[in-house]
Amino acid sequence: MPEAPDAGDGGDMKSVKENVLTWLRWALAYGFGRLILRWEARRGNLVARALVDPGIQDDPYRVYEEVRAAGPDVAGKALTPATISHAATKQLLRSPDFGVGDGHGELPTPLRRLLIRLQSLEVAGPMDPPSLLAVDPPEHTRYRRLISKEFTARAVARHEERMQKVAHQLLDDLESSRTADLVDAYASLLPVAVIADLLGVPEERRLDVLAWGNDAALTLDPGLSWREYRRAEAAMRELHAFIDTHIENLRANPGDDLMSRLVAVRDDDQLTTVELHAIVLLTLGAGFETTVNLIGTGAVLLDRHRDQLALLREKPELWPNAVEEILRIQPPVQMTLRLAYADTEIGGRSIPRGTAVTAMIAGANRDPQVFPDPTRFDVTRSNAHEHLAFSSGEHYCVGSGLARLEGSVGLRTLFERFPDLRVTGEPRLRDTRILRGYESIPVELRAPVHSG
Ligand code: HEM
Repeated sequence: MPEAPDAGDGGDMKSVKENVLTWLRWALAYGFGRLILRWEARRGNLVARALVDPGIQDDPYRVYEEVRAAGPDVAGKALTPATISHAATKQLLRSPDFGVGDGHGELPTPLRRLLIRLQSLEVAGPMDPPSLLAVDPPEHTRYRRLISKEFTARAVARHEERMQKVAHQLLDDLESSRTADLVDAYASLLPVAVIADLLGVPEERRLDVLAWGNDAALTLDPGLSWREYRRAEAAMRELHAFIDTHIENLRANPGDDLMSRLVAVRDDDQLTTVELHAIVLLTLGAGFETTVNLIGTGAVLLDRHRDQLALLREKPELWPNAVEEILRIQPPVQMTLRLAYADTEIGGRSIPRGTAVTAMIAGANRDPQVFPDPTRFDVTRSNAHEHLAFSSGEHYCVGSGLARLEGSVGLRTLFERFPDLRVTGEPRLRDTRILRGYESIPVELRAPVHSG
């Protein structure tokens, strides 16, 4: 573990204090856990390997299958159990005996409390209370109610036309190119435009928000290094400063968007500033950090399975089911964590109170008991929608309807506009473990024209 930092560039006492606080937050939230996970991974602990072993980044599914072989429902040592079957994973995510443990359920309670005391508004991330992902009912129910009406089927349908228009505009910009990086030019820009509309983020700030969101998303990974954490904290600082200015602007000029409505709730004293920031930061980040992976992974899968693409061309009504199948076979969120609040049982195994259990979503999505021939990518699979890519229970993804529509509109429009699109070269994966998807996908947009 790196040593606690000194004053850094500034050299004054304030920056020494800031740096020490940053280091302490990292050490508590990630540093100690990272040491333990690496140690466990070296000793062959499969769950720890899935979380930190750099050797399995290309294909974590190998390890998930080893976990299943050791399970079959719940596997792993006493300290790091994980659910791998579909039934046990769903049971874990829905059980009232489990909760999210302040977003750091893996930490012993005294360390968790200390971490919360060291948190501050300027750097609070998506896994810090009062983010929806880090709180349990009744607090969770209150926040969730404030935003869920913006994501009903009817509310989501209102975004379709705009989504379609943005997709076409982005692809218009590629008309004169023969090659592109699909993530940079399309997969990342479509979701950020959609969520920015929803939150009233002005057009000129969207690329900044995208860059900060990419760095802030690193905090979802339990094995975060000191260097990555510093980058993530700097991004979160920028995001919170941006949210502050944005709130002031919307207070003066409210728009017809979720954020303006939340600011009004804040001003009715129903929401504190910290709560408002937490909701906005999470919705903003969750809105594009995952959907970019759905679109990128979907494009690569379809490129590698041209027969499935041909089927979609013949029967475009299959697109929504194709999105379910992409989410099943390569979920953008690979796993999540729950903490036992009581002595309980999952998949027939007893779990003592205080145990953190990993829900291996990506493994559950390939459970052969539920999905026959689970490694086959089949856009006609009739029960593909039974995947757990959006979790289950209290924290079931509030944006799932929006994400499904974005995936379907985004991928369909891409392949309709560029029917000969091909992935050229090896797409590069992101470094993150909890979020999985591509950082870069080199593509040729049209078949080369041969003369003569
Ligand atoms: C393919 C895209 C997406 C995937 C795979 C995804 C996945 C997930 C998952 C797995 C969770 C629950 C984590 C847990 O149980 O610990 C979650 C929660 C959440 N997602 Fe999504 N998400 C996606 C898109 C979106 C979008 C577009 C939005 C917003 C516009 C969004 C907003 C949220 C929020 C606010 C939560 C917290 C819900 C709660 O804790 O009650 N997500 N998402």
